[in-house]
Amino acid sequence: MAVAEKEVRQQSFEEFCRETFDPKTVFDKPEALKGLRVLSVTQYILGPSCANYLGELGAEVIKIELPRRGEPMRHTTPWNEPGLYPLSRWIPEKGTGFGSVGANYNKYCISMDFHRPEAQELMKKLAAKSDVIVENYRPGTFDRWGVGYRQLSQVNPRLIYAWLGGFGGFGPGRFRASYDILGQAQGGVFGITGQPPEMGGTPAKHTIWLADYWGGMMTAQAILAALLYREKTGKGTMIEYSQVHGATRLLEYSLPLYGRQGVVRQRWGNWDTQLCVHGIIQCGKSSYPDSPNPQENEQGYILITAYKDADYAKLVKVTGAKELAKFGTHDERVKPENQMEIYNALEKWAKDKTKEDVAKLCDDAGIINQPVWNAKEVAEHPHWRMRGAIDWRDDPTYGDVMAQGPAAKLSDTPARFKWVYKPVGADNEYVYGKLCGATPSELQKLEADGVI
Ligand SMILES: CC(C)(COP(=O)(O)OP(=O)(O)OC[C@H]1O[C@@H](n2cnc3c(N)ncnc32)[C@H](O)[C@@H]1OP(=O)(O)O)[C@@H](O)C(=O)NCCC(=O)NCCS
Repeated sequence: MAVAEKEVRQQSFEEFCRETFDPKTVFDKPEALKGLRVLSVTQYILGPSCANYLGELGAEVIKIELPRRGEPMRHTTPWNEPGLYPLSRWIPEKGTGFGSVGANYNKYCISMDFHRPEAQELMKKLAAKSDVIVENYRPGTFDRWGVGYRQLSQVNPRLIYAWLGGFGGFGPGRFRASYDILGQAQGGVFGITGQPPEMGGTPAKHTIWLADYWGGMMTAQAILAALLYREKTGKGTMIEYSQVHGATRLLEYSLPLYGRQGVVRQRWGNWDTQLCVHGIIQCGKSSYPDSPNPQENEQGYILITAYKDADYAKLVKVTGAKELAKFGTHDERVKPENQMEIYNALEKWAKDKTKEDVAKLCDDAGIINQPVWNAKEVAEHPHWRMRGAIDWRDDPTYGDVMAQGPAAKLSDTPARFKWVYKPVGADNEYVYGKLCGATPSELQKLEADGVI
C-alpha cells in the first residue's frame, strides 16, 4: 500500500483537517507572499481590501495616506471615538472609524503629500524597491502627481500597478466619482435585489460593501496572475479594475437572459427565481423577547432549502400543510404564483414558532435549514470560535479586538492576522529609514514641512 494511501486510512478527514489547519500552529509556519512588498495608496474599502488580502498572505504592505488626517474612511462615524482607535499622534482628539478595520489588517502606515515634489521623489524611491502598487483614486490623479504607472515603471519596469477606479480609464463616463453603492446601482445589482412590487417592495441596498470587498479580491487575484507572468518574463503589468464592471460581473444569468430573450430579470426578495423551496421565511416568535437589542425582539427568520422533490415532500409532511402536496414537481413549485402560495403557507405554519423551533423540526426531518443569525450569534458560535474564524486578537496598538480572520486556510503557508490597523503615519520612521535611507533629522524636517 502506498504511504499516502495508508495515511488516508489511518487518519479521518476530520482529524487531517484539524491537524493541518490548527489555528494554534499558524504562526509556526512560513508565509506564501513573504518577501513581496506592496505599496497601498488606497482609500475607503475597494483599494484597501485588495492590499489587505495580500497582507494576510504575508506580503509587506505599506499604506500611504495624506499626512495627519489620513484617508477619508478613517473619518466615518459613528464609532470613531479616540479611545477606541486613535487616528494619529497629530490629531489625538479623533479616532479611526470602525468601518476601516476589516480592510487594513497587517499594514504598515506611512504618510505623504503627493502635491510636494519631495514626496514624489520619496514615492519613486519606494516604488523602485517594491513589487506592487495598489491605488484607487480618480483616473489620471497619479499621472498628474508624477507617480502614475508610466512614470513609476521607468524606475521599476518589474512593477505591477493595480488601479481600481469606478468606470475604467477610457470611455465617456470615466471621470465621475464612484462608490460601492454607485457601482452596484450602475452595474445592475440593485435591479435584482429587494422585494418585487407585488410585495410592496423596492430595490434593496446591501448593508455590507459587497462591490468593494469583492472588487478588492478580484484585483488581488489579478495581481497574483501578474506576478506569475513576471516570474516568466521579467515584465511588470498595469491592471485596471472597474468597480461598476465588477458589480456587473456578479449578475449571473441576467444578461444572457436579456440578450437571448429580451427578458429583464426581476427582483424576487428572499426567495429564489430558480429554486423553490429555497428561501427565507419569517417565524412568528422572537428567540430573545427580553433582549435589550430591539432587533432581537423581532420575529426570527430562517432559511429553508427543500427544492428537491424528496425534500419538499418531507417539508409538506413536517408542516402538515396538505394543500402544498399538489406542487410535487419543481417545475410547478418554481412558478411565481405557486411560490407565493408555498411561502405564505410556510409562514403560517411558522407563526407560533421561533427560528430555533423551526430549525429543530427541519433538522429532525432531514431538511436543510439555517436560522438567520445576527453578529452576536455569529460571534458566539463555538464552531467558528474553535476554528479561529472569529477570535479576540491581541492588537499591539488597540489592545483586545474581536475580528474575523482570513477564510481561506493554506496548509503550509496559512494566511494570518497580525494587527488590525495602525494610526496614520505610525511607521514613518521605520519605513522611510529602511527603504529611503532617511535620517531622523531629515524626517523631522519633512514632517515639519508637511511633506510626510
Ligand atoms: C473615492 C473618490 C470618489 C474620491 O474622489 P476625489 O477625492 O475627488 O479624487 P481622488 O480620489 O482622485 O483624490 C484626489 C484628492 O485626494 C486628496 N488626497 C488624498 N490623499 C492624498 C495624498 N496622499 N496626497 C495628496 N493629496 C491627497 C487631494 O485633495 C486630492 O485632490 P487634488 O490633487 O486635486 O488636491 C474617487 O477616488 C473615486 O471615484 N475612486 C474610484 C472608486 C473608489 O475606489 N471609490 C471608493 C471606494 S467605494
